[in-house]
Amino acid sequence: MTCCNFSVPVSCLAVVAILGLSTIHLYRKIEKEPVSVTTATTESDGRTEEYPFPILEYPLEIDNASEFLDLIMLGQPSPYDEINPEFKNMQFFSYSRSTCQEDLDILILVKSVVFNKADRDFHRSTWANLPYLSKFSENIQVVFLVGVPEETPDQILLQDEMNIHHDIVQGDFIDNNFDTTVKVLGGLTWAHNFCKNFKFLAFINSDVYFSLENTIKFLRDPQFYPAKRKRSILKTNKNPLSLDKLSQTDFFAGGVTPFNLGIPGRTDDDGGPILVTNEEYSPQVFPIYVRSPFQILSQQVASKFYHLAPFVQYLYPEEIYLGLLANKLRIQPVNTDYIKDQLFVTIGENKTLWKSFKNLICLHNLLLEERHMLWSYFNPVH
Ligand SMILES: *[C@@H]1O[C@H](CO)[C@@H](O)[C@H](O)[C@H]1NC(C)=O
Ligand SMILES: *[C@@H]1O[C@H](CO)[C@@H](O)[C@H](O)[C@H]1NC(C)=O
Repeated sequence: MTCCNFSVPVSCLAVVAILGLSTIHLYRKIEKEPVSVTTATTESDGRTEEYPFPILEYPLEIDNASEFLDLIMLGQPSPYDEINPEFKNMQFFSYSRSTCQEDLDILILVKSVVFNKADRDFHRSTWANLPYLSKFSENIQVVFLVGVPEETPDQILLQDEMNIHHDIVQGDFIDNNFDTTVKVLGGLTWAHNFCKNFKFLAFINSDVYFSLENTIKFLRDPQFYPAKRKRSILKTNKNPLSLDKLSQTDFFAGGVTPFNLGIPGRTDDDGGPILVTNEEYSPQVFPIYVRSPFQILSQQVASKFYHLAPFVQYLYPEEIYLGLLANKLRIQPVNTDYIKDQLFVTIGENKTLWKSFKNLICLHNLLLEERHMLWSYFNPVH
């Protein structure tokens, strides 16, 4: 992120303008802590580590929501009112694959938009199809999340696609690129109501190159990913590690923006990466958050997020919203460096560069052709 030191906003904006990026993640470090901070602890590798944890004045204002959540998950009456109860009543259309009745290791929800069939077809023709998925000992299900298009003809086309592929979930909200929080809340709700038996839930953007194989490797040993010793993860591997244990911990992982590096932008001019007004979000820093192209949640975290979300005020974009849920629950996100949000280069035919992507889980902002090239490079047809 050296490109975008905050002292050179003009050149940063130029880069962004040239690449035409939709979300950008440029950091500027603040000098002193404008919010109160506590520490949170996390267990890793048998050691307990402490992290700074911002206490954010954002509804629901509660210092540690865990106790409160324990209450409501037991069906006790809540001492607080729900701030956005709507999403729990969201309706979903046209999903009919029996696989959700089985136990799933990973349920992957792709945040898609209706018109973007090309992206969906890319995923279907590469990693998100049954022959490929069945190579793994893990049971994996992939679903594209969309809303309702504004034009009827688009809906008719979508319905045809749904009938052919049976891999689309449509929520009853207006579909666009700026509804990612609704989409993620919808995904949590749909999974909770209709596809509950998963160990992990992953949200990925639609415009990514995604490596399922690396995701599985990461889950098997998140602390030490990528493992030095080569281990096959295909079905021939006799002893795949169990994911059960991890799924019952507060595991929430991806590319993490740490405390003090996520600063809200207030206006277009101040160059902040994510714009929110003071009314929408008043704290001077964002929570520690997992950036949007890829987020993976254990079953336990997905369930906690689903139950807490009605009490936490809505905010776009979803990466910050999920960060807020984690913040309220004192969940420390787990970082992996193997997510690339932005490449400030076109990857062209540079095989040296491609090779360096070997362990990447997710690469964001590539052209469709580039994603196809990478897929063929890492998955040559024998
Ligand atoms: C938050 O509350 C839970 C449940 O009461 C407790 O186990 C946990 O230690 C608390 N965390 C912090 C950081 O206070
Ligand atoms: C190809 O990528 C490598 C690794 O990033 C870089 O060092 C090299 O300059 C690139 N070559 C060209 C021709 O762009």
